[in-house]
Amino acid sequence: MFVIAVVSAKGGVGKTTISANLAAAIALTGRPVLVVDLDPQNAMQWHLGGLNQNDCKGISALSTQRMGLAEVSHLSPYGVSFTPYGNGGESNRIRFEAVLEEQEGWLLQVLKSAQLRHDTVVILDTPPGPSVYLKQAVNAAQLLLVVMLADAASYATLPEIETLIASYGRDAHKRMDSAFIINQGTNHQLAKDVTTLFAERLGTRMVPFVVPENPAVEEALACERPLLSYQPENPAATSLRAVANWLLPRIGT
Ligand SMILES: Nc1ncnc2c1ncn2[C@@H]1O[C@H](COP(=O)(O)OP(=O)(O)OP(=O)(O)O)[C@@H](O)[C@H]1O
Ligand SMILES: [Mg+2]
Repeated sequence: MFVIAVVSAKGGVGKTTISANLAAAIALTGRPVLVVDLDPQNAMQWHLGGLNQNDCKGISALSTQRMGLAEVSHLSPYGVSFTPYGNGGESNRIRFEAVLEEQEGWLLQVLKSAQLRHDTVVILDTPPGPSVYLKQAVNAAQLLLVVMLADAASYATLPEIETLIASYGRDAHKRMDSAFIINQGTNHQLAKDVTTLFAERLGTRMVPFVVPENPAVEEALACERPLLSYQPENPAATSLRAVANWLLPRIGT
């Protein structure tokens, strides 16, 4: 099992979109993939589809019910196994977060107990900024994929996310590998300048592909499908496949 946590300081930068499509791209290579939605927005379902809305149990149910990960996971139509956050309501969320607060290694333990195939890639989608979910994800992950926009605000939050990762990693007594990716790239001069600044600052930690801004990303979401399935030849889909192919040799088998 290799665990990637998809994180960001700012909200709405494309973590869920990238998690879903990276998972779909990795699944296309034949490797088993599990996506875990660790965000109470429970939004991954709109990217991977295939859920019965009336009975959407997810990872948040595991803190109170005697079930394993397999019982709250689904095989999406895109070859990706998928654990939603779940729709257990507000009281369930509060209980779940209390468990996560108390038991630092809860998520890692759940993943280990799931007895996934040894070559499974697990992708954890997280809410933006500091949270118990981010802390659990950092604890469980071998690689953090930090999503950013090529704008001044994302550049300004870089020290914040680096400090956060370092402090959560310290709590978990581990050193984190991280990779930084720019989403919604454009040809605007400012975006190009910010991308250059990121590359200079991050060096080899920068993913060498920018995912371009493209209207088909929203269309795919409206159709409840990953972009890779909706428009496989779209430039953003091509870039996401390139990111997957760049990542896979780095994470081994
Ligand atoms: N490359 C892109 N081109 C165009 N639109 C995009 C792109 N990536 C993401 N979007 C759109 O931006 C919005 C936010 O994306 P997404 O939900 O993936 O971000 P997020 O980081 O997961 O947000 P949150 O912080 O709320 O979890 C969505 O409407 C999505 O369709
Ligand atoms: Mg999200």
